[in-house]
Amino acid sequence: MPVLWVGSTLSAGAVTVVKDIAHPISLARLVMEKTPHLLLAGAGANRFAKEQGIPTVPSGSLVTKYAQMALEQFKAKNDDRTEIGHSNPGEVGTVGAVAFDLNGNLAAATSTGGINGKMVGRSSDTCMIGSGTYADDNFGAVSTTGHGETIAKYCLAHAIIRNIENGKNAQTATEDALKRMTQILKNTAGAITISNKGEIGIYFTSKRMAWAYQTGHDLHYGIEHEEDNIVDTFKN
Ligand code: GLY
Ligand code: GLY
Repeated sequence: MPVLWVGSTLSAGAVTVVKDIAHPISLARLVMEKTPHLLLAGAGANRFAKEQGIPTVPSGSLVTKYAQMALEQFKAKNDDRTEIGHSNPGEVGTVGAVAFDLNGNLAAATSTGGINGKMVGRSSDTCMIGSGTYADDNFGAVSTTGHGETIAKYCLAHAIIRNIENGKNAQTATEDALKRMTQILKNTAGAITISNKGEIGIYFTSKRMAWAYQTGHDLHYGIEHEEDNIVDTFKN
């Protein structure tokens, strides 16, 4: 359920409820570049992939053992509605990227397997306009992770962009939107943001979120709150 957003033209492409595609952001890009549409879903998205020569992997081969374990845990407890892979540290859940190039162009991309125990046909927030992903060269680019229904109700990515538009820096814009969303809707999420000035914003109201960014030689990364490890990539 990925999406790709390009901030110079507000161009975007997305697919959702799509099956057995190993590189779905490449498919989202083709929706952006080759169709008049923004979002293709389900069987139609798979048909478009076939027409474009995007290979399909064997059915079920993208289901990890962690996802299977998480589903079993969900069935046993029936109260753990979180992203696939998000409940145990070190696993990968939603994956997102935001980027800023030398010419000031911003872009964002996000991909997810959804949440544990979802109904057949449920779409994540990730592919929804202004919820999971957004990029506008005038303000910034955002990619979000966390409880999809909550993120979508709050239009989280666009709420962060609006905060930047109202003069907040990327970190404050990200933090304020996430805190307010969690206060109102009682569910958690996280986001990575880069503003059109190149400022970074990283915040999560969830217990953990894996993140990393690079400025110059310095690679920053973390997963727990208040964690900021730095590696000099020139020396290492
Ligand atoms: N992006 C971190 C996670 O969803 O687990
Ligand atoms: N944020 C990913 C999902 O809820 O599907």
